[in-house]
Amino acid sequence: MTAILRAVQADITRLSVDAIVNAANSSLLGGGGVDGAIHRAAGPDLVHECRLLGGCKTGEAKATRGYRLAAKYIIHTVGPVWRGGANGEPELLASCYRHSIEVAAAQGVSSLAFPSISTGIYGYPIELAAGVAVSTVRKSLQHPSSLTEVVFCCFSMDDLAVYQQVLDKAA
Ligand code: AR6
Repeated sequence: MTAILRAVQADITRLSVDAIVNAANSSLLGGGGVDGAIHRAAGPDLVHECRLLGGCKTGEAKATRGYRLAAKYIIHTVGPVWRGGANGEPELLASCYRHSIEVAAAQGVSSLAFPSISTGIYGYPIELAAGVAVSTVRKSLQHPSSLTEVVFCCFSMDDLAVYQQVLDKAA
């Protein structure tokens, strides 16, 4: 079955999907941005489970339960810090999307929402990041899996416009 890709403007902690992705740091112990919002919304049990995971390398992904969220799972991934683009940033960002989909599919997830990984505190230009996000997700979904819907959850209307343009172009 072909999965549906779409972009929305929302707070990712409020979405009713099977799993949401967290743009975490390598400690997996919480931080600012979407990471902070997810930890606040999920509640303190989340950091207890995260402590057992032993961190996460850039480009990799690990799952926890969703606790107080509507989502059953949180897939924690660590995006690259933008250092000009010639330091493996596109490959590492693509790896985040690919591994998050693999981890979600291993849990039997049907609907999955991504924030715009690396484009906040880590400084990855949104136009470039959206291109990597959409093309990597499309390619990953060519393999049959449990996934039927992938949502790109944008925090601002400006980010939504960028994702929408990339999705329309690539369609
Ligand atoms: N829902 C959806 N998107 C959000 C939300 C939300 N509630 N809050 C922020 N965003 P960032 P990064 C958007 O900075 O760049 C943390 O401290 C935000 O507007 O959260 O990968 C971690 O612990 C932006 O578009 O993540 C790491 O140290 C996107 O989420 C570091 O930040 C990503 O911005 C990771 O930096």
